[in-house]
Amino acid sequence: MRQSFDLSKYNVSYDIGFVLMSPLKTLPSYFNPWNELAESLPKLMREKKVREAVRRLPLLDHSQLVGHRQLRLAHLQLSFITAGYVWQDGDKGVPQVLPKCVAFPFYNISKELGIQPILGHVDLALANYHLINPSGNLQCLYHIPGGLAGDWFCVVTFMLEFSFARCLKHLVRILDLLEVAHVQMRADEKGCKDTERKDNEREMAECLDDITLAVQNMEASLARMHDNLDAKMFFNVIRPFLGGWGGEGNALPDGLIYEGISDYPIKMPGGSAAQSTTLQILDALLGVEHTEDKRAFLVHMRSFMPPDHCRLIVDLEQKRPHKLRDLGNLILANDDLAIQELYEAYNNCVSALVHLRNYHIQIVTKYVIQASQTVNKGNYESLDKKGTGGTSLIPFLKDIRSDTQKKIMPIPHAQSKKSQGKLMSWQKVAVVVAITASMAVGAIKLLKYK
Ligand code: HEM
Repeated sequence: MRQSFDLSKYNVSYDIGFVLMSPLKTLPSYFNPWNELAESLPKLMREKKVREAVRRLPLLDHSQLVGHRQLRLAHLQLSFITAGYVWQDGDKGVPQVLPKCVAFPFYNISKELGIQPILGHVDLALANYHLINPSGNLQCLYHIPGGLAGDWFCVVTFMLEFSFARCLKHLVRILDLLEVAHVQMRADEKGCKDTERKDNEREMAECLDDITLAVQNMEASLARMHDNLDAKMFFNVIRPFLGGWGGEGNALPDGLIYEGISDYPIKMPGGSAAQSTTLQILDALLGVEHTEDKRAFLVHMRSFMPPDHCRLIVDLEQKRPHKLRDLGNLILANDDLAIQELYEAYNNCVSALVHLRNYHIQIVTKYVIQASQTVNKGNYESLDKKGTGGTSLIPFLKDIRSDTQKKIMPIPHAQSKKSQGKLMSWQKVAVVVAITASMAVGAIKLLKYK
């Protein structure tokens, strides 16, 4: 059957999802001052000499950058340099102004890419890597503070993106099947063949099962965070580096002046995986809706995503609403046993997303809430009660989880295929563990190669 939904329009790959394909390792030699500073950042951070080094930087002509990959690498480098410049000494004595040699090109490159001039998920999880051998093992290109633990944080986040990529082909297939279902629904009145409709529903259920697997795999990847990252390191060293500027209680309450761009401070939330496109795509597919203020935050996070990726979410939500809503309607409109599989597959998929969000809350509890009470060195008071993205953490995350939970539909038939479901979930766990283990081996090799 012809595939009507063309994913290539969105700069997304079936293999690595939203991760940047074949990122560059260095910029042309004209940009060596940036190449070198970004490379030596961990040492400069330790010695607290980032600001000195930035003041020595020449103002380079960013219009000499050619193509998307050079722009992305320049954004990555300047975002790291900016974070080092601002947070070198913690919350104390934070500079109000980012010098023009960084601010001017950084702001303009961000504008050209359609993303924000601050270190974000688009850098850390989507562009900060290079392959170290043909078998696909990778290494972080630039290093956030924290040594191996810092790299591990980036690797695990990358692994979640990578795990999500497996959803994409099933997502596209579902969209096409919904198209067929839509036609069949209308044809039903004229006597559409029951077997065709059932085949369509079964295939949709299988696709949802595969997406469920990918979501479970994302959770298994997230669980790897504990392997090489402890709460003390995350709270005191890594998280502050991801901080933003602006807002009550922030070390830069009015924001940061980007010299050469604006005489007024600019406010900017910090890096957060809430800027990942992955979960917003799953919400759009499954029809999960968030209440106004939560949605406003998540929509704001889209301005940190590459515009093509953001457009994919918007298209799923808006341009194809009848088909996406059909997924729910289709299930509710039918009460024969054939639809049961689809029913259960949809519920399993939503449950897996609830489970992932629940696990994520546990991660946040360990790395932020408990850490702020136990291992907090008090270097960054502004971040004690808020997420780097600026939310009030747990209440926000719990609301997002319960919005997801609300989509679970009551099963109409008492005789549901529970036993079959149980068997399937065991098979799924086995597959998830196998996939995750192989990915982890890759990631561990990655760290050994350093
Ligand atoms: C140590 C690890 C992590 C911590 C401490 C953490 C913390 C947080 C916090 C505090 C928020 C609330 C928004 C904000 O203010 O920033 C958030 C949201 C979010 N995080 Fe994480 N996070 C971690 C890892 C990850 C990873 C690896 C992903 C993978 C993509 C992720 C995905 C998300 C998403 C999608 C949201 C938005 C809420 C949602 O849709 O459920 N997080 N995270």
